[in-house]
Amino acid sequence: MLSPREAVRTLPSYHPPLAGRDGLRLDFNENTVGCSPRVLERLRQLGPEQLARYPERGPVEAVVAGILGVAGEDLLLTNGVDEAIHLLCETYLEAGDEALIVVPTYSMYRVYMMATGAKVISVPAGKDFVFPGNEVCDRITPRTQLIAIANPNNPTGTVAASEELAKIAGAAPGAAVLVDEAYFEFYGQSMLLGRNEFPNLFVARTFSKAYGLAGLRMGALVGDADQMRSVRRVSSPYNVNAVALACLPEALRDQAYIEQYVGEVRESRARLEQALEASGIQFWSSQANFVLARVGAAGRFVEHMKRRGILVRDRSGDHGCEGCVRITLGPRAHADRLLTALQETCDELGIAQGASRR
Ligand SMILES: Cc1ncc(COP(=O)(O)O)c(C=O)c1O
Repeated sequence: MLSPREAVRTLPSYHPPLAGRDGLRLDFNENTVGCSPRVLERLRQLGPEQLARYPERGPVEAVVAGILGVAGEDLLLTNGVDEAIHLLCETYLEAGDEALIVVPTYSMYRVYMMATGAKVISVPAGKDFVFPGNEVCDRITPRTQLIAIANPNNPTGTVAASEELAKIAGAAPGAAVLVDEAYFEFYGQSMLLGRNEFPNLFVARTFSKAYGLAGLRMGALVGDADQMRSVRRVSSPYNVNAVALACLPEALRDQAYIEQYVGEVRESRARLEQALEASGIQFWSSQANFVLARVGAAGRFVEHMKRRGILVRDRSGDHGCEGCVRITLGPRAHADRLLTALQETCDELGIAQGASRR
């Protein structure tokens, strides 16, 4: 009888709750209002010929590389950052290798790593999710082939200092070190510039978050040209589709739209953090477009928010996140709705007034 590889048979399945997402979607860290109108205009102009042809990635890669200030040969457009992670696992990991992550973190690292048969070493974050740079360095062995770090991290919103990331890249010259900057726009600091010192360092960016293009599936992976040649070998030449390729340059050209959106999200983040502080709800100061908060009965909290038309994500199953929910921020009007629902839900459930204060 046909049987999948053992690594696949034993793989824990990851099913994000995608069904029935009606309401204000503050559960997946997406852009809550959508992409630049210029992207929609470009979409309307697409004709049958663009869809009939196999997509050509190269010219758009050159545009993105130019904007990021990197050489074209250093950059690969990917089907979201998810594909970038998958490609790195395919390129560098085999059964018996070790791959390092810091937990809690983005779930797909573990899935793609485990699917190769590699052993995933989870390094727990410190108190208050402080990045455990020294502990990561201590866990590097000759078998370590891949280290994946989200910066800012999901679901905590916390960050690792550039020096710590550089230290890890320097300590593991035989391992691919991925710095996943999916939430870069909300933070503003990047490893792209310091990258040249480390031929083993990769930086990933996504257009799913600030750019509002999660449905188009577009990301970028940047690394040393020699390494990227190997990564490209594993990738389909048609991994990003023609519609996404047509739209991406428009999205990038409308930087005013991104700046406006990111500015409002940062303001909303500050408002939410103030409200949580005032209610005595434990939270972790975030550099991303979401905040992790310890509300206690997370499942009931999510349910009560949903009744008010607001979706937030139960993260209580993540390492160190007992009783926590993750709340995505959008612009002002969405923050107004969120804060009203939050207050009502807290009153209803008797959360707050110092109940879960740090
Ligand atoms: C840290 C991190 N990396 C990658 C992704 C996936 O990004 P993409 O939509 O580009 O595949 C997410 C999505 O939540 C994320 O939080």
